[in-house]
Amino acid sequence: MNFHILTLFPQMVEQGLNTSIIGRAQEKGILSVETINIRDFTMDKHKKVDDYPYGGGAGMLMQAQPVYDAYLHVVEKIKTRQRPRVIYVTPQGKTFKQEMAKEFALEQDLVFLCGHYEGIDERVLEEIVTDYVSIGDYVLTGGELAAMVMIDSISRMVPGVLSNKESGETESFSDNLLEHPHYTRPEVWRGKEVPQVLLSGHHKRIEEWRKEQSLERTRIRRPDLYEKYLSNK
Ligand code: ADE
Repeated sequence: MNFHILTLFPQMVEQGLNTSIIGRAQEKGILSVETINIRDFTMDKHKKVDDYPYGGGAGMLMQAQPVYDAYLHVVEKIKTRQRPRVIYVTPQGKTFKQEMAKEFALEQDLVFLCGHYEGIDERVLEEIVTDYVSIGDYVLTGGELAAMVMIDSISRMVPGVLSNKESGETESFSDNLLEHPHYTRPEVWRGKEVPQVLLSGHHKRIEEWRKEQSLERTRIRRPDLYEKYLSNK
């Protein structure tokens, strides 16, 4: 899986994604993360990439030309017959969910477009964007953090990225249930004991206990997911 990120702040994305699990997956050659600095494609002699909005109003907009040329650079590099999916990260998009992460993980190449200032000239969005995606109902100063969140979540669904093959599936949100609680040594910490059943070695009872905990936790913390679980059962 190859991620191509169109951004005005490449270092921000690179630093965030070159460590830990995503960094290791890049070293193993399972993933690649390439940043494309939109500013490198401006034709303005002062390297300007933004301008005032027609019709007036607050703030500046990213201009169409540098964004489009940065996109063409990626397309040229990928050289696939099909146009790659281009995700514009924006609070106006569809809310990102685990199922989307799984779906995007099936792509060979994914392009992320990160906006800044008040946004991007609508005409280039119409020309290149295939998916408008938000990470939640709040506004960030730019798209980079949102793109990083999505890339992290998509990456862990790519086979081979997580060392334990099952761990991508058995965690929170599979089946619309949250995970059961976890405990490790010591057996007693600040007077709190690990639930006895986990020390019993009785695998069937442990599984039953975990399932109960998972149901109860979902019912209390995420009643919306619990309803979904019940209706899909
Ligand atoms: N850019 C600014 N806010 C955002 C959000 N909530 N999701 C995705 N991209 C954004």
